[in-house]
Amino acid sequence: MDIKALISQMTLEEKAGLCSGDDFWHTKAVERLGIPRSMVSDGPHGLRKQDEAADHLGINDSIKAVCFPTACATAASFDPDMIREMGEAIGDSCQHEKVSVVLGPAVNIKRSPLCGRNFEYFSEDPYLAGRMATAIIRGIQSRNVGTSIKHFALNSQEHRRMSSSSDADERTIREIYFPAFEMAVKEAKPWTVMCSYNKINGVYASENPWLLTDVLRKEWGFEGYAVSDWGAVSDRVAGVAAGLDLEMPSSGGVNDKKIVEAVRAGKLDGKLVDRACERILNIVYRYLENAKPETPWDKEAQHARAADIAAECMVLLKNEDGILPLNREDEIAFIGEFARKPRFQGGGSSHINCFKTVGALEAAKGLKVTYAPGYSVAQDEATAEMIAEAVAAAKKAKAAVVFAGLPDSYESEGYDREHMRMPDCQVRLIEAVAEANPSTVVVLHNGAPVEMPWIGKVKGVVEAYLAGQAVGEAVVRILFGDANPCGKLPETFPLKLEDNPSYLYYGGEGNVTEYREGVFVGYRYYDKKKMDVLFPFGFGLSYTTFEYSGLKLSAEKIKDTDTLAVTLTVKNTGSRAGKAVVQLYVGDVESTPLRPVRELKGFAKVALEPGESREVSFTLDKRAFAYWSQQIHDWHVETGVFTIEAGDSSRSLPLKAEVTVESTVELPRHYTPDSIFMDVMADPKAAPVMREFMEKTMEIFGHEETEEDTKEAAKEAITEDMTLAMMRYMPLRGAMSFGGGADSSERMEQLLKKLNGEA
Ligand code: BGC
Repeated sequence: MDIKALISQMTLEEKAGLCSGDDFWHTKAVERLGIPRSMVSDGPHGLRKQDEAADHLGINDSIKAVCFPTACATAASFDPDMIREMGEAIGDSCQHEKVSVVLGPAVNIKRSPLCGRNFEYFSEDPYLAGRMATAIIRGIQSRNVGTSIKHFALNSQEHRRMSSSSDADERTIREIYFPAFEMAVKEAKPWTVMCSYNKINGVYASENPWLLTDVLRKEWGFEGYAVSDWGAVSDRVAGVAAGLDLEMPSSGGVNDKKIVEAVRAGKLDGKLVDRACERILNIVYRYLENAKPETPWDKEAQHARAADIAAECMVLLKNEDGILPLNREDEIAFIGEFARKPRFQGGGSSHINCFKTVGALEAAKGLKVTYAPGYSVAQDEATAEMIAEAVAAAKKAKAAVVFAGLPDSYESEGYDREHMRMPDCQVRLIEAVAEANPSTVVVLHNGAPVEMPWIGKVKGVVEAYLAGQAVGEAVVRILFGDANPCGKLPETFPLKLEDNPSYLYYGGEGNVTEYREGVFVGYRYYDKKKMDVLFPFGFGLSYTTFEYSGLKLSAEKIKDTDTLAVTLTVKNTGSRAGKAVVQLYVGDVESTPLRPVRELKGFAKVALEPGESREVSFTLDKRAFAYWSQQIHDWHVETGVFTIEAGDSSRSLPLKAEVTVESTVELPRHYTPDSIFMDVMADPKAAPVMREFMEKTMEIFGHEETEEDTKEAAKEAITEDMTLAMMRYMPLRGAMSFGGGADSSERMEQLLKKLNGEA
């Protein structure tokens, strides 16, 4: 299709019309020219296609579909290959249902456990989020269906989500909040990007030229269309100019008219409207020309796959005395309403209308499992009778499994959590059951960390996250040992909410939320502060054991333009087949900017039979060592020694090596009369200049040293040290004022030129 030729035949009204939706889920048709409507639908952990009574809050039912594990769970798999496959399945369902774009993945950073939408997001770590996003986009788009990576950007809270400004410094944005988008855009080329509701440093994402054009397109090479989150547009004309191509849903013609008027009044360049149309039509036709509605959608097969995937996501957090796996021959009490009716997805726009769901109780059919509801989700209550019934069941059984977590009302799109606690009734239930039967295991269904005041009283904990419609099958496989847990936490579980680095600032004041903790999000903060946590980032147990050895680096010293190969060996030292998640962290030993102790820069999931070992390799490039320099507005490596650590969680890193990385980029020097001695002397380029200058100064203003002077000097040795120490903070202008003299300003000018490398 010759898109440019098509656009040249469109009237201004038709073009402006194409820049907003026809209804909730369709772009507009231009019948006169044969341009059809094209459908987009929510996801991203399944297809949420609504035909009638459309809404974007998940209130009205959509077609029956398959709910795969949500992002909080899939991130825990640390398995991009598997997530790519899940994307392929979702892509097939879209082809079958004639949907051109799935609205996801959502890759916002889990800044605080309180964000209501954490279950839709991958991680507190940008690298992990980026790898997962890249994988699912590749999977979906391999079926010639587009994705819409969202919500671009800094949309890490629901509170005042449509009016709040996320205010962060450039380095924080680049190091924490952008990389998942950046990696996915560069490597997986999503067909579309969805801007967020919020403002960024005072400017709505939907009309932010820096975000939508400078960074997204000019720096990262994005070529698809940028679409607004549903209702995110404030000033549509500013949006077109900034690079927001499509407004969704329909504006009822109001904003289309504004675009037409702005062009007619010479306030908006008509070429920018053409540009938006071209980007939209490129995608509309990319899908159309590859549409395959005959693609089969085998929901049962996808359900089975959803169960396999869910099992790979579950994180075994505690397994005292090897309580798990349970014995199939034993009588086990399943307690808690979630055993029968699990929570496996979150509320809001990602809500899938499942064609079937399987809870743990149903999946355990044939086993000696008894059941007591324990609490009521609807009433958010555990009556004395319910607890007594649960205790009786627990007493009779060999072991008790309490299914707990967060009900829908505690965690959803649209609002944030108020605290990090589980429902009180569930806490009481767990404590009562654990007292009745010391062999108690808790299975958790939640999208983000919870406090666990009961952790010392139970023997086992399985974090199932929100693991999709087949969750029950996966949980039963884990509990009874048909699957070996291999998920790892994609986030830190702090001991209490107040420990979280964003605690004081999260939510903000009025319409401003300052990201004051900067780059110290999640483990970057807890590690820097050497804080105890409940469970660290990357943590997860297995029914087998692994041993790490033989860390080798390809060089002891590299330039920042080189790559470094890292190899190590992981061995299954237990008696069961299992999967290890090898994690690689890099840290700058000493650095001028304040940096985290370590940051995740590589990981690999490795399946090993008992006794088997495998060599794993990683390649690190400049980005693995760099920080974002606000001085040069670019990634920069400070010359020095870096640690390379490897192991199976951010707090269990048995292997460690060091490499020196030398920068090939010289930071510009900006010395002024206010620069202080210490900084000048710490700069290998400037220090000799300064020394020479000082010597000259002594020559000009000094005098012949006498014997008397030497004696005096010896007496004053201590004070001299102190003087030197104080000199460290002396500005250069100080040297002049002490030196005095009419030529001082000229000498200062010469000095600065030399210090700045200009003379
Ligand atoms: C959500 C998006 C979603 C859109 C369409 C918005 O409220 O923030 O994630 O894709 O609605 O349903």
